[in-house]
Amino acid sequence: MPNHFIISAHPNPKSFIGAWASASARAAAELGAVAVSDLYAMQFDPVERASNPLETQYRASAGSAWADDVALEIDKIRAADVIVFHFPIWWFGAPAILKGWLDRCLVHGGLHDVDHRFDRGFCRGKTALFCVSTGATEVEVGPAGKEGRLDLLLWPLAYTLRYCGFEIADPVAVHGVHGYWEGAQKAALEARLTRVLDGQPAVIRTLADRRRWRFNADTDFDTAGQLHPDAERIWPFIA
Ligand SMILES: Cc1cc2nc3c(=O)[nH]c(=O)nc-3n(C[C@H](O)[C@H](O)[C@H](O)COP(=O)(O)O)c2cc1C
Repeated sequence: MPNHFIISAHPNPKSFIGAWASASARAAAELGAVAVSDLYAMQFDPVERASNPLETQYRASAGSAWADDVALEIDKIRAADVIVFHFPIWWFGAPAILKGWLDRCLVHGGLHDVDHRFDRGFCRGKTALFCVSTGATEVEVGPAGKEGRLDLLLWPLAYTLRYCGFEIADPVAVHGVHGYWEGAQKAALEARLTRVLDGQPAVIRTLADRRRWRFNADTDFDTAGQLHPDAERIWPFIA
């Protein structure tokens, strides 16, 4: 019975992203406990304000004295076996509110430290799934696409979670999502999005079988942190 944590990052609760997150939450409720964070609805504050966040996070971790909003999110992360992130691609990455959620909630001393990261991360055994929409077409965010490959756009986000020990499931992506379409284009898009919503229970139910992204193991790096020359270069970010 996996515990799920559903995160949604879209300012409009009536958006497709909002409906998609609700579909995930309903499907997850059939399987076990579900926590939800609708970051805009919660008015989650994504801005870390202290002058030295790492030090502040570490000191707070020593006494478990995180800010109240962060403490609630940490509890949800710790209780979850699976975190499902729903968000649109904005400027080739995640909306700022989600980046800020990572900045503030993946606390140093609480969810990672120098002895607990990557293969030894505190979040080993947990899985993250990205459910994203793009305005770009599948071709534009595919291989040699003009807007950059979607898996590369998602890499910093995925690697943040991998740093904490998460496994990353193959993302679910819906392309060519535009609010400004009219007439036949709008109807075709709505039909396509309805099919995505209808298929989401199966995505949640079969997540354990979904392909995981591969990353270099800790043992692929030397003590200075550089990839061994004979190790496989899995991502162009480490090459
Ligand atoms: C600020 C902003 C930046 C965007 N940047 C991108 C982008 O880099 N790549 C892309 O494919 N779509 C981009 N889009 C389009 C969104 O991904 C698209 O509107 C969203 O996936 C559709 O969901 P919605 O209509 O429910 O907002 C952007 C939209 C906004 C508002």
